Amino acid sequence: EIPNPPLPLPKGQDGLKLVNDPAHPFIAAGPNDIRGPCPALNTLASHGYLPRNGVARPDQIITAVMEGLNLGNDFAKFLCYQAFLMNGNPLTNLMSIGMKTPLTGQDPPKPALVGGLSQHGTFEGDTSMTRVDAFFGDQAVFNETLFQGFIDTATKFGFNGTYDVNAAAELRNQRLQNSIQTNPQLVFTSPRILSAYSEAVFPTIFFVDGRLNNRQLTIDAARHFFDLQMMPTGFFRQPAPVNFTIVDPLVSFLFNKHPFSPGVNHGKNNFVLQPQTPPLSDFCGIYEDIVLRVIPGQYPKPTGALKDAINKNLGFFFGAVSAEHNCTQVFPFGRD
Ligand code: HEM
Ligand code: MG
Repeated sequence: EIPNPPLPLPKGQDGLKLVNDPAHPFIAAGPNDIRGPCPALNTLASHGYLPRNGVARPDQIITAVMEGLNLGNDFAKFLCYQAFLMNGNPLTNLMSIGMKTPLTGQDPPKPALVGGLSQHGTFEGDTSMTRVDAFFGDQAVFNETLFQGFIDTATKFGFNGTYDVNAAAELRNQRLQNSIQTNPQLVFTSPRILSAYSEAVFPTIFFVDGRLNNRQLTIDAARHFFDLQMMPTGFFRQPAPVNFTIVDPLVSFLFNKHPFSPGVNHGKNNFVLQPQTPPLSDFCGIYEDIVLRVIPGQYPKPTGALKDAINKNLGFFFGAVSAEHNCTQVFPFGRD
């Protein structure tokens, strides 16, 4: 039985709040605790907003990002069900926030991957800010050399050496240009293009203390979340739920500073455009690409309980998409 996704936080409980609090102490991940490519989910697990072992249900992930960082309900569902459909186990309703694990239960038949968030080429993809491309090594683990590049970019382009939207715009472009030059297997198409631009913006919002909320992330706070997987001491979350209405214009700002077209490398420095795939500006096209291409790639012809579970999750996913975007629902496996 799949629990329904959580409702928004109740009025009066959806505001500014100390979230690095005594009820959620930081405990570093132990040898059996799974962590992965997302600094936010890693941190939420290390503070007990998520199960500390790094395996969770979608409703737990949604609750965790709402409570811990004040994601709006729709935005939380959009991220979570997108990831869950690509990386979770629809039969057991469990997902790893990092590598594949038996803790998510018995897999549905191949080509289903149930690979967890670290699974390359699904939600995880190339040109990450603090993780190397899978071609070069472990795509899930924090990389100090890349973080030094993050700091350099903040120093050069950010206000007072902080990571702000100007720094984000430069770093996002730099990471793409670097992968074009060096990664012969670079893939930079839907849906990765959307996560790449969103994730460049997120730290300027969610990792900044909600009392200040100036969209200027200090290097110290960045070090806490990205590397230590820890909230800064006394950290407050965003003062109000953050939905697409806040994120979308910041993503557009980054894009407009350095526009790009989706493509893939056929060997180093040979970026071949993919004009038949949706561009970053086509949100509904990306939604359809996920639902009609990416998910059936792992579930070509699901039947029975598996089909029911996937369809239910597709419904939750579309619910989040349609909350703020005028897309038409598509049904890869029929409507029933
Ligand atoms: C990266 C999943 C929420 C910040 C990622 C990646 C995944 C992921 C799979 C790896 C993509 C890649 O870089 O290749 C999720 C899911 C979420 C969620 C399923 C919620 C349900 C958040 C939130 C934040 C966040 C609330 C707030 C700051 C980031 C950042 C990266 C990232 C900054 C990029 C890391 C880098 O490029 O080095 N996330 N995420 N995520 N996530 Fe999350
Ligand atoms: Mg990556």
